[in-house]
Amino acid sequence: MTRLALVFVVLASGITVSSCGDDGSSTGDPPLFPADYAATYQEVRGCRFSVEHDSIRVRVLASPDAVTAYNGRTAPFPTGSIILKEEFDESDTACAGPIVEVTVMQKLAVGSSPDTLDWTWQKATVERVIETDIMRCTRCHTSCGKPPEGYDGTCTVP
Ligand code: HEC
Repeated sequence: MTRLALVFVVLASGITVSSCGDDGSSTGDPPLFPADYAATYQEVRGCRFSVEHDSIRVRVLASPDAVTAYNGRTAPFPTGSIILKEEFDESDTACAGPIVEVTVMQKLAVGSSPDTLDWTWQKATVERVIETDIMRCTRCHTSCGKPPEGYDGTCTVP
């Protein structure tokens, strides 16, 4: 791959992204979520200020098979189900877009990866650099992802 910015516009989701980052963190992995996720994923947490970061707003979406577990907080997440957090500028009070960055977690088989809470983790920036510092994600979600704030590694309060 060259380092020329190859810009892809993902029309369905409204994310403007490009490939070939130059900060060394690009893994070349494809995103865990489909480009047209917005067509099927459901909002499970509405637009709000992030607790994780200062000065950004976030909204959380779940793949159809993750909605019951995410909202009900009792059922197990099906293997392969996905939770996606869209991040917006703090001035974007309605989370209308553009999306600045996306983080995503996908459920792995129960017991298959205790070190990562049986999730795999990914970040997609606007440059389309995919960061997968899984242990950084996991460390924080280990503390916030349990009751009363969280559920099974997820941290966004209802
Ligand atoms: C410093 C703590 C911290 C780190 C590090 C962190 N998160 Fe989170 N994450 C949170 C908190 C708190 C929330 C709740 C929403 C918010 O406040 O932004 C959250 C929410 C999420 C959500 C929405 C689902 C949910 O309810 O948990 C996803 C997806 C997510 N994070 C993925 C990631 C990924 C991927 C990484 C690593 C690239 C990561 N997080 C790193 C604290 C963290």
